Amino acid sequence: MTLDPAYRVAAVDSRLFGSFAEHMGRCVYTGLHEPGHPTADDRGFRGDVLELVREMGPTIVRYPGGNFVSGYRWEDGVGPLEDRPRRLDLAWRSIEPNTFGVDEFAAWCIEAGVEPMMAVNLGTRGVAEALDLLEYCNHPGGTLLSDLRRKNGVEQPHGVRVWCLGNELDGPWQIGHKSAAQYGRLAAETARAMRRMDPDLELVACGSSNTAMPTFATWEATVLEECYESVDYVSLHNYYDPLIQSREDFLASAVDLDRAIDALVATADHVGARLKSQRRLRLSVDEWNVWYQSAWDETSMGDWVEARRLIEDEYDVTDAAVVGSLLITLLNHADRVGIACQAQLVNVIAPIRTEPGGPAWRQTIFHPFAQAAALARGTVLRVEPTCPTYPTTGLGDVPFLHATATHDEETGAVTILAVNRSTTEQLDLTVHVRAFPGHRVTMCSTLSASDPASRNTAATPDAVLPRANPDVQLGDGRLQVALPPVTWNVVRLE
Ligand code: AHR
Repeated sequence: MTLDPAYRVAAVDSRLFGSFAEHMGRCVYTGLHEPGHPTADDRGFRGDVLELVREMGPTIVRYPGGNFVSGYRWEDGVGPLEDRPRRLDLAWRSIEPNTFGVDEFAAWCIEAGVEPMMAVNLGTRGVAEALDLLEYCNHPGGTLLSDLRRKNGVEQPHGVRVWCLGNELDGPWQIGHKSAAQYGRLAAETARAMRRMDPDLELVACGSSNTAMPTFATWEATVLEECYESVDYVSLHNYYDPLIQSREDFLASAVDLDRAIDALVATADHVGARLKSQRRLRLSVDEWNVWYQSAWDETSMGDWVEARRLIEDEYDVTDAAVVGSLLITLLNHADRVGIACQAQLVNVIAPIRTEPGGPAWRQTIFHPFAQAAALARGTVLRVEPTCPTYPTTGLGDVPFLHATATHDEETGAVTILAVNRSTTEQLDLTVHVRAFPGHRVTMCSTLSASDPASRNTAATPDAVLPRANPDVQLGDGRLQVALPPVTWNVVRLE
């Protein structure tokens, strides 16, 4: 492939490296928040988790759900702890203790150095409650709810800019599930009212829950007919399951995400054209990840308990390569994808795992996220690699190499991110870099494992790590690097 700063996709929006914290399983309770844990501060925020979050580098965190938000009453989670009610969470058949709420989340975001992204409940609730939450969060003071926040010890508004208008309301499993026309109208009314209170908000309309939904694309078209002029983003959710396909097909997952993004952009632009609108919506891919979803039996949740273990998937090196590949796709669509949130942050299908009272550690999928978030900055370059392909079951012929590159105009640094999808063959990658004379290779790292089933666990937290790849050369404007099978690779030129 060839790198040239003249061939650009778009500037990297730092919000592409977002994450998601839902009141689900142990993401919040015994994940972010565990009073009494040896590393917890006086608010109960786990210090070991905060340290890993800072290292991983998410820029924005979506909260509080997910399916949870569609039955959530935000008022339950503010004010004195002793007055907060315990409630049934119907989404995850749990007891919600409400000891962590919007004020704790906002304070946690400051500690973690991330921007908050809030979702409002448009399942069991509507415009009025969304406005109440917005007033509580963003109004400076002198009104009932802004003064309630101040009384609760938070003088300054939280200043939340990005708001999701509900969650996955196309899904029959969603509490308050709606038709596209019902949801589109509700989203439009909520958006218009929220903007009256705070015109600078960035609002996200719910797209489909996944691309396999029978209404994928028609849901979005109908919803956007109602709310196109009132929102800034339409959401896309998609998870990739290693258990329902061959390893080769699973390694091609990002091709599916790539096509889903193209399909959704086309759908949104079609509505925009029909409405003769000057707006161009962007996508918020606010739930994406690898999820061993077919292994999860929803009926096994059992009795009502607090913070049960839910979908605490353990990831291997193939999963890390797929997560890296999904990140490459998001970057390659930086012209239309403005926000992306890996789901979720801690314990629940997450890059960070914890044990209650015990350690926190990095799963394999932590590493591609952390490296991309730290290094893929500036402008995405249009790299257009050529390489051999292999046949897949559902996606046709797919290239073995999946790559992108970024150029940071301020520092001059170039970052190449590359996945070798081959399960058997090394790829010898040649990159023409004549447009960057004087650059040297300052880093070349590969995430691989001799045993593809290796996972990082509490006992072996560093079994799978990115390691220096010595098989790299730069000369005569050509970079050559060997990419072993099933690997995530990062090359840095400065
Ligand atoms: O992230 C887990 C769940 O997946 C979320 O609650 C929901 O939005 C999605 O279906």
